[in-house]
Amino acid sequence: MNLQSTRLYYREFQPEDDVLMFALDSLSEVHTYLYDPVVTDIQQSRDVIAYVRSQYVANGIGRMAAFTKDTDEFIGWVGLKLQEDVNGREQFYDIGYRLMPQHWGKGYATEATLFFLEYAFNVLQADEVNAFAFPSNGASLRVLEKCGLKQVERFVYNGQESVWLMIKK
Ligand SMILES: CC(C)(COP(=O)(O)OP(=O)(O)OC[C@H]1O[C@@H](n2cnc3c(N)ncnc32)[C@H](O)[C@@H]1OP(=O)(O)O)[C@@H](O)C(=O)NCCC(=O)NCCS
Repeated sequence: MNLQSTRLYYREFQPEDDVLMFALDSLSEVHTYLYDPVVTDIQQSRDVIAYVRSQYVANGIGRMAAFTKDTDEFIGWVGLKLQEDVNGREQFYDIGYRLMPQHWGKGYATEATLFFLEYAFNVLQADEVNAFAFPSNGASLRVLEKCGLKQVERFVYNGQESVWLMIKK
C-alpha cells in the first residue's frame, strides 16, 4: 500500500525501528501531555513496536512511522488506532500523532491527520473518528480542530482530565 501525502510518507513499524521509537519516547518534552511515561530502556520500545505490529494484523490498521519524502528522515508516528474502552465507547478509530520536537511547527501533524482522516472514511469506511487529549495540550487540540474535529465533552482517562473530540464522515 502506498501511503503518502504532500511532504511525508508513512509505513508500518518494523522491529528494526526500535532505535527510532526509543529516540522519540525517551524525550521528556514529547511526554509533557501524554498518558504514558518516558521510556528508559529500549526493550520498552521493542515491546511497543510488537504491540503496534499485532494491531496491524488484528485490526488492519495501527500507528504508522512517518518520514519526510525529501530527506527520508523519521519524524515520529501518526495515524489511526482501533481503540477500545475509552469514555464509554467499546471500540472506535482514534487519530493521533507523536513527533520529534525538531519537526514540530511545520504543519506535519496537520498534514498527516488530514491524510489519515481520508483513509478512515474512504478506505476503512468509518462513520466517525475520535481523539482525546489533555485540555492543556494546545498544539494537539489546534491540529485536531484545524482538521475538523469538534470538542464534544470532558471526561477522565487514566485519572487525567481529558477532552473528547469527534468528526463524522
Ligand atoms: C502535538 C504535535 C503532534 C503537533 O505537531 P505539529 O506538527 O507541530 O503540528 P502542526 O504544525 O501541524 O500544527 C500545530 C498548530 O498548533 C499551534 N500551536 C502550537 N503550540 C500551541 C499551543 N501551546 N497552544 C495553542 N496552539 C498551539 C500552532 O501554531 C499550529 O497552528 P497554526 O497552524 O494555526 O499556526 C507535536 O507538538 C507533538 O508531537 N507533541 C508531543 C506529543 C503529543 O502531545 N501528542 C498528542 C497527544 S494528544
